[in-house]
Amino acid sequence: MTDTTKPPVLELANYSVRFATPDGEVKAVSDVDFAIHAGETLAIVGESGSGKSQTFNGVFGLLARNGRTEGEARLDGRNLLAMKPSELDRYRGRDMAMVFQDPMTALNPVMKIRRQLAETLEVHQGVARREAERQALAMLKRVGIPDAERRIEQYPHELSGGMRQRVVIAMALLCAPKVIVADEPTTALDVTIQAQILELFAEATAGSGTALVLITHDLGVVAGVATRIAVMYAGRVVEEGTVDDVFQAPAHPYTAALLASIPRVDRDAETVEPIPGRPPNLIHPPKGCAFHPRCRAAVERCVAERPPLERVAREGTGPRRAACWRPFALADRGTAAQGSLAHV
Ligand SMILES: Nc1ncnc2c1ncn2[C@@H]1O[C@H](COP(=O)(O)OP(=O)(O)O)[C@@H](O)[C@H]1O
Ligand code: SF4
Ligand SMILES: [Mg+2]
Repeated sequence: MTDTTKPPVLELANYSVRFATPDGEVKAVSDVDFAIHAGETLAIVGESGSGKSQTFNGVFGLLARNGRTEGEARLDGRNLLAMKPSELDRYRGRDMAMVFQDPMTALNPVMKIRRQLAETLEVHQGVARREAERQALAMLKRVGIPDAERRIEQYPHELSGGMRQRVVIAMALLCAPKVIVADEPTTALDVTIQAQILELFAEATAGSGTALVLITHDLGVVAGVATRIAVMYAGRVVEEGTVDDVFQAPAHPYTAALLASIPRVDRDAETVEPIPGRPPNLIHPPKGCAFHPRCRAAVERCVAERPPLERVAREGTGPRRAACWRPFALADRGTAAQGSLAHV
């Protein structure tokens, strides 16, 4: 269960990521702040290029060479951004683990599954070899690998994509880290396997208190898995709240547009509306609200002034944060009706 009365496990404050390029500085992530608590699943959603991956690559010290971070990213109160690489190494894998879209980025192609999994425990927890191998096998079974005794003796290339991703998840779970960040972990897998993997994550984190950050461009996978959602646009968080509230009445027009752009079983195919226009250039982002060139609710103020991320509320849904001068303007899916505005 999420316990928001305790200090967060991971907290970003005034956090930014910049990349130096010959054309100028890419403002990939700007002034992000959010907190992640034990046992909760936070979904980070947004179109491709919105800054989801670089936010966490920066936290894990995995940025490309031309990248740098600003602000703070605290794990249990300790600022990861101020740590030396050797110090950060101690936390990675043990207290925080990352799962990527391509499982091969985490697997060694010339090492048997048994060794790869056991080594995680030997290195990070100092567990003796035999015991580490016993726990590795148990974890493989827990992540639903059939015939685990045989699979553990194999090399990664002998496994299917879905199996490999399960192995990576097993590896991430083995040390019972405080937080796991899964970056589009199911995007390369077929739909049935996707659902199984997400369920597995939900189960694994529910029992252990591990906080899960699920990065996805697909809002469809969020419902049923995540408790909270943060929507990113042009490197900023534009809305953040519980999944139930955000799905019921999106405060930010971009969230409303994202929701209207996904096919849903309870809606006709004709009502699926792609978001017009393109994501902005992050070297020269638009003035004011970065979404204004694509926003159906935009007014003059949106072009001139950037809306801060602040608490907003509407009757019937819980309070949350949104960065918009006209929150809930498009909450009723596509109708441009003005919602009852209530800043709290
Ligand atoms: N090494 C780099 N140099 C310059 N720009 C980069 C670099 N890596 C990522 N970016 C830019 O940072 C922005 C955010 O990227 P990313 O976080 O990967 O997006 P996504 O939301 O799809 O995960 C994008 O505009 C991307 O082009
Ligand atoms: S601030 Fe204006 S342009 Fe930006 S999302 Fe809100 S209404 Fe649209
Ligand atoms: Mg990404």
